[in-house]
Amino acid sequence: MEETLEVVEEEAPAKPERPEDVKILAFLCNWCSYAGADLAGVSRLQMPPNVVDIRVMCTGTISPHYVLKAFQEGIDGVLIAGCHIGDCHYGKGNYMTAKRFRVIKDLLAGMGIDERRIRLEWVSAAEGQKFQDVITSFTEQVRAAGKSRLKGV
Ligand code: FES
Repeated sequence: MEETLEVVEEEAPAKPERPEDVKILAFLCNWCSYAGADLAGVSRLQMPPNVVDIRVMCTGTISPHYVLKAFQEGIDGVLIAGCHIGDCHYGKGNYMTAKRFRVIKDLLAGMGIDERRIRLEWVSAAEGQKFQDVITSFTEQVRAAGKSRLKGV
C-alpha cells in the first residue's frame, strides 16, 4: 500500500523550554556546508546540541520526499545548507535546490506545516561562524514554532 501524507493543520504548540527540546535535521553539502560545520566544530563554537546532520554530495540531490519523510519521522525542523550560488561543485546543483526549495515550501504550506520549520542557507567551507549563527537562529525559529505534531502522519 502506498504511503501518503495527509494535510495537517498545525495548532500553535507551546514553545519548548530549551533549544535541545526541538529536533533539527540538517542536510549539508559535502563540499561547503559540511566543511563549514566542521570548521565551527574545530573552532569550538558553541552550538545547540539538537542537530542531526546528513552529509550529501550536493544539495541538488535532496528530494522533497526526504524533507516530508523527516517530518513524518518526528523532526521539528529541516535545514538545507549548501555551496553559495555559483560555487556548486557540480555546476548547477544549488540552482536546482533554490527552485526546488520553493516547491518544498509550497508543499509544506499546503499541508499546513509552519514555514518556520524549513530553511535554506548557503554556507561555505570557510564560514564556520556563519554556520553557528544559522544553527543557533534556526533552532530559535523552530523553537518558536513549537514541537511538530506530524510524527507518524
Ligand atoms: S556541491 Fe555544494 S551545493 Fe552542489
